Amino acid sequence: MFVAETKGVVVGYAGATVDNPFHPILTRHPAGYIGVLVVDPDYRRIGVGKKLIEACLDYLRRGGVKWILLHVLTENAPAKHLFESFGFRPFRTEMIKKL
Ligand SMILES: CC(C)(COP(=O)(O)OP(=O)(O)OC[C@H]1O[C@@H](n2cnc3c(N)ncnc32)[C@H](O)[C@@H]1OP(=O)(O)O)[C@@H](O)C(=O)NCCC(=O)NCCS
Repeated sequence: MFVAETKGVVVGYAGATVDNPFHPILTRHPAGYIGVLVVDPDYRRIGVGKKLIEACLDYLRRGGVKWILLHVLTENAPAKHLFESFGFRPFRTEMIKKL
């Protein structure tokens, strides 16, 4: 878990794990997972999210993973832009229907 702090105030956090055996394709490769990323709304658009992702990628690289998986909601444009700027690409589509 990585915590972003400014002047003693926590303004965001992100979590990454080196082991991600649950995906059938990724079980054949050393894979990592970024499971959480949140930045305080008062501190957004100043690069905090970017720094947190950089910390996660550095940790996963040092852990020897070759692929990194994460989940993001289709309509979450800010997060998708951020992840795409780091080279993440859509990988599979989940479908949902309300009854
Ligand atoms: C997604 C989130 C973590 C981004 O954090 P942030 O600190 O504002 O991001 P940064 O300032 O580091 O922005 C880096 C890049 O992300 C993209 N981005 C961030 N916010 C954006 C927005 N509102 N609209 C479009 N692109 C955005 C941009 O490409 C941006 O680069 P730029 O500022 O040079 O254009 C933040 O909006 C958040 O906490 N959202 C709610 C939680 C969430 O959705 N988490 C991800 C779940 S998977």
